[in-house]
Amino acid sequence: MNYYALVLAAGKGTRMKTELPKCAFPILKKPMIEYIVESIEKSMIDETIAVVGYKRDILEDILTDRVNYAVQKDQLGTGHAALQAEALLSKKEGTTLILLGDMPLINETVIDSILKEHETLKNDLTVVTTHFNDPTGYGRIKRNDNGYITSIIEENDATLKEKEIKEINTGIYAVDNQLLFKTLKDIKMNERKGEYYLTDIVSLLVNTYKVGTTTIKDNRLVMGVNDLYNISIAEKYFRDAINKKHMLNGVSMINPETITIGHNVTIEPNVTIYPNTTITGESIILKGAEIGPNTEIHDSTIHNDVEVKHSLVYDSVVEDRTTVGPFAHLRNHAHIGKDNRIGNFVEVKKSTTDSNTKAAHLAYIGDATVGKNVNFGCGSITVNYDGVKKHQTVIGNDVFIGCNTNLVAPIKVEDSVFIAAGSTVTKDIPKGALAIARNQQINKADYAKNLIKPNGLNQKK
Ligand code: UD1
Ligand code: CA
Repeated sequence: MNYYALVLAAGKGTRMKTELPKCAFPILKKPMIEYIVESIEKSMIDETIAVVGYKRDILEDILTDRVNYAVQKDQLGTGHAALQAEALLSKKEGTTLILLGDMPLINETVIDSILKEHETLKNDLTVVTTHFNDPTGYGRIKRNDNGYITSIIEENDATLKEKEIKEINTGIYAVDNQLLFKTLKDIKMNERKGEYYLTDIVSLLVNTYKVGTTTIKDNRLVMGVNDLYNISIAEKYFRDAINKKHMLNGVSMINPETITIGHNVTIEPNVTIYPNTTITGESIILKGAEIGPNTEIHDSTIHNDVEVKHSLVYDSVVEDRTTVGPFAHLRNHAHIGKDNRIGNFVEVKKSTTDSNTKAAHLAYIGDATVGKNVNFGCGSITVNYDGVKKHQTVIGNDVFIGCNTNLVAPIKVEDSVFIAAGSTVTKDIPKGALAIARNQQINKADYAKNLIKPNGLNQKK
């Protein structure tokens, strides 16, 4: 038996009120449609067709050649969307599973169980249903006195009594492939909406073919995402699932509802994550690290026993036992060595440091190569930008940089140098030297009285 998936994703998503086509909207930085296609790829489905239309380039860029495409130029409803796959599918034998591009929580277990149920029941069409306490917005399942499905009625066309029905249409159908395309042509336009409803295949087939239902217990897995509120519910679902997986794997999370971890993040056991922390991209966090609170890490590697507090780390590496923060910012390939301290209000950009180097407060290290045992005094910076170009700073081992030092790049500071506080260094410093680059202090005897009046400083009120 061949199995096909037909994913309807041509709609604009008017209720989202966003620019992106709905099915491309990201959840935890991954487009909604990708979740669905990933689940299909893990299931028993052999071939997938996505129906695209509104801003289809965006969806095609996301899915590339993982699926085949059918195009729906005008969005005339779900029935019309499915029909656009006719040329690709209608000749083939097998079962087609229709899915909507706005059900990101579906997984391969649900997909396979629907297809198996469809086969066991020997149905021509199986409608997948679930129950919601608040079914608002969904099509309702109508059954006869014997409990058999007779039709699906859309919210807009439902009477008050029908609106009370809590069993809803998930929008998933397993259907004999050739029968599907024969029937789609018989769907009449719904006058009220000017659309062809896919849901009408039920009433069209129910008298002559075997039409059944299968019901999904966990209604979250088949929820439809129509607006940004629904996006937040789907996101919470993924967040909880990802966090749970990490916690069961030995990662301790304090107040996990406030912690967001991306899909492709690796975290070793014995890591602790504190509240309001986001770790995304291809980040890797090794054993013993403590991350957060209030920290963002993206595409970065944090080694063993590192501490990162109240800080931002992007595209960077932090080696063993180093502490970062509070309020530090590492970015654009900062590579911090072992046993460093990158403290309060320190920014490191495109620079490397060797072991045991410290910048405890108020420093900027940009475009620099820094050795071991270097101490950046408070307020010391690399002056890497001349208004046109960025220049390199090279600092050796065992260097002491006094407070408020400007290292005007390009510049080289050799090993075992001591730079006096307040220096603006514009020339290379040779090994072992003491560099002083500031004006000599002058003390004018008995002069302060000219500036300070008897009742205090001469300040404007
Ligand atoms: C649809 C079902 C409803 C079901 C609900 C489940 C219909 C008429 N209604 O309603 O019974 O309870 O899903 O979530 O089928 N699309 C196209 N082309 C179009 C219109 C839509 O490709 O012309 C795609 C959209 O991109 C979307 C999917 O079909 O991914 C569903 O469309 P949507 O407008 O969200 O349908 P609902 O109103 O939610
Ligand atoms: Ca929907």
